[in-house]
Amino acid sequence: MCGIVGYVGDREATEILVKGLKRLEYRGYDSAGVALINHGLVVQKGKGKVIALEKALKADGVKSNIGIGHTRWATHGEPNDVNSHPHLSESGKIAVVHNGIIENYNTLKKQLIERGRTFQSQTDTEIVAQLLEEIYTTSKGVNFEQAIRLALKQIVGTYGLAIMNEETPDRIFIARKGSPLLLGIGEDEMFIASDASPIVEYTNKVIYLDDGEMAIVTRDSYKVKTIDDYPLTKEVHELAISLDAIEKAGYPHFMLKEIFEQPRSIADCMRGRINPDTGKIVLGGIEDVIDELIHAKRIVIAACGTSWHSALVGEYLFEQLAKTPVEVEYASEFRYRDPLIGKGDVLLVISQSGETADTLAALREAKARGAMVLGICNVVGSTISRETDAGVFTHAGPEIGVASTKAFTAQVVVLIMMALELGQRKGILSQSEMNKYIKELSKIPSKVEYILEHTDEAIQKMASLFTYAPNFLYLGRSYNFPVALEGALKLKEISYIHAEGYPAAEMKHGPIALIDEMMPVVVIAATDHTNDKMISNIEEVKARKGRIISIMNDDNPEVEQLSEFHISIPTTADCFSPLLTVIPLQLLSYYIAVNRGCHVDQPRNLAKSVTVE
Ligand code: F6R
Repeated sequence: MCGIVGYVGDREATEILVKGLKRLEYRGYDSAGVALINHGLVVQKGKGKVIALEKALKADGVKSNIGIGHTRWATHGEPNDVNSHPHLSESGKIAVVHNGIIENYNTLKKQLIERGRTFQSQTDTEIVAQLLEEIYTTSKGVNFEQAIRLALKQIVGTYGLAIMNEETPDRIFIARKGSPLLLGIGEDEMFIASDASPIVEYTNKVIYLDDGEMAIVTRDSYKVKTIDDYPLTKEVHELAISLDAIEKAGYPHFMLKEIFEQPRSIADCMRGRINPDTGKIVLGGIEDVIDELIHAKRIVIAACGTSWHSALVGEYLFEQLAKTPVEVEYASEFRYRDPLIGKGDVLLVISQSGETADTLAALREAKARGAMVLGICNVVGSTISRETDAGVFTHAGPEIGVASTKAFTAQVVVLIMMALELGQRKGILSQSEMNKYIKELSKIPSKVEYILEHTDEAIQKMASLFTYAPNFLYLGRSYNFPVALEGALKLKEISYIHAEGYPAAEMKHGPIALIDEMMPVVVIAATDHTNDKMISNIEEVKARKGRIISIMNDDNPEVEQLSEFHISIPTTADCFSPLLTVIPLQLLSYYIAVNRGCHVDQPRNLAKSVTVE
């Protein structure tokens, strides 16, 4: 949440900052701003998207070779011009951009006001600039870097910070605790960002700052230290993502591009890991811990949002294919209970971004209690992927649309591969069963491609009929119950239509009261073993005049006959079904949102990477 960029070098900083902020806009888009040094600190900021900032900067024409920028997702203080970042100290000489939450900001603010400081904004961030200036100007023999360290000692909470002082016009100071920051190393130029997307165009050499670290960055040098001033030698990583992967490639929205990328992203996720010739699955990332996984008493899976839905699919998979008991937890709830987890248990965290604050906290909690901690992440180098004992990357490529699509299918593919590998190694799945599953799994990319090609038009038509429906109900059973939840989440987050996902049979225990001739009910009727039961549930909806939209396997005349609209998809193994059934639901929510004129890639109030708790 919130995106930070920084640049120091010989190029025009505003261009690089604006471009970087556009790439980070998925992290927040309430307001945006930059601070530059041009014979003193110059700040341009305001409510609205980065494009508004870009216009204002063009009109101003300020030139500079050093600057920091920010795109905001409001936590403290409403989104307006004053609360936009950068925030300045009282003298206007120090500028700060911040991602995270300063938890003791009220106490610190009160103390600073008592000592005579005047505040402009309602944000927690402004106290960093003010406190820093107070320490710097009133403590004898303390240089600016030391003042930052002293200020950070007083701050409780989380931060990714980039700081400039007009008295040290050649450098940017950055610090991290709980909110990601990367340093990109170029030729006589340096880049700072919350993730790799603003950097990849210029350099593929990056350093990931860890919690409790800070860096002093000039155009041709960087010094990384702990906040306590111990110098560090950090590993320089090579970025594997390409520029193409973070651009729209002719699609009107990232979400649509990412939906259509799924045949490739699913294939990439399986590449080198499944072998249809040998009937084997090898996940290199968990190879060293496979024995512990085989002997685990149970697996607890913790995640948030869409990743939590894939965790629910994981529960069915591990229990069916590997006979391992699984519990699925909302990461935010897990950490605030007194969870009974410890040695012999495995906590598996799932996160596209690898930065979700609650998921990270759950991981740390379980680790502290002695559990082995595994991760399924998309972003290489993310905090979660670095703090887990072992894990598997989804390799879906950068997901930029705020609504998660290809990350979900890739997470499910990883869970399938893990469950199959575990099932085989535990002796639960025979070689012939493995051969069958692997053969079918390798067909999934082409089946997804088929669905995209053959259902897109019908879904667009259907979307136009339901664009203004005020409510939707999604029903599924077994493996497709989590898909019902996911379909409802996709719709509500990008089109702002109220939608609920429910286990189909559970509908009778309450939600059936909502059904009338106005209610679209999306039924996901594409598994064999629940088909008869699902038909009964559809009958129950129909008897109450609900408008049935079904996602069904090819050739299911009973479901087809009961449905007002149906989308036929190819059959697959029941346990792979979510990989296919979710695709029409992603498209349906996308087209409804577009018809309603919603900002699909940047829905209101949301941000892609939820780094606050
Ligand atoms: C929904 C969505 C969110 C995320 C959730 C977890 O489309 O994108 O619900 O799934 O914020 O994010 P990660 O997976 O990055 O931990």
